[in-house]
Amino acid sequence: MSKIIVSPSILSADFANLENEIKKLENNGADWIHVDVMDGHFVPNITIGAPVVKAIRKVTSIPLDVHLMIENPEKYIEDFIHAGSDIITIHYEAVKENTLNVINQIKTLGAKAGLSIKPKTQPKEIFKYLKDIDLVIIMSVEPGFGGQKFIFECAEKIPVLKKQNANIIIEADGGINKETAQLCKEYGIDVLVAGSYIFSGGDIKEAIKSLR
Ligand code: DX5
Ligand code: ZN
Repeated sequence: MSKIIVSPSILSADFANLENEIKKLENNGADWIHVDVMDGHFVPNITIGAPVVKAIRKVTSIPLDVHLMIENPEKYIEDFIHAGSDIITIHYEAVKENTLNVINQIKTLGAKAGLSIKPKTQPKEIFKYLKDIDLVIIMSVEPGFGGQKFIFECAEKIPVLKKQNANIIIEADGGINKETAQLCKEYGIDVLVAGSYIFSGGDIKEAIKSLR
């Protein structure tokens, strides 16, 4: 892939002005919108659910990149896809031996399917699923909160996965800023998620541009 896709995470957006925030991202170069869904079980934090995705869908046509950090994702996938998600990514650690069934559920319902791995999960654990999915999210922080520091060893997983399947889209999520984005690009990243870096600097356009 030649062009880096930037997928800003709305976790750091002003939730009281979500429509405005989404429009700002759209008008300043965002390619996708990254939606972080947390359940208070798989991760120690709770964020938003399918009704919010539905509301976002009404105000933008940008692809919605929905990251499910939840247990038993199979119970909620249909809701998230009907709400307008384009890409649904589940966590390998949440589904383990049920991974293929949940991937197939996502694809059957018409969305693109992603698999995410936490920092301590080795890429080889998901090698056998690479042919069945569209993308991998490599977590470069422990999932649960925005604003954490990038774990550098996670970037080494990018070429390991690319070597197994050159067509897989690889997304890095957590602690992405101008410097860590550069490192990920050197390792061959396709998609960069960034929350606090994009929303805390004041100039969204410049922040998105600096990641490319
Ligand atoms: C963490 C989420 C990330 C996070 C990124 O659990 O999956 O998407 O919001 O936020 P920053 O860019 O602030 O690390
Ligand atoms: Zn995320």
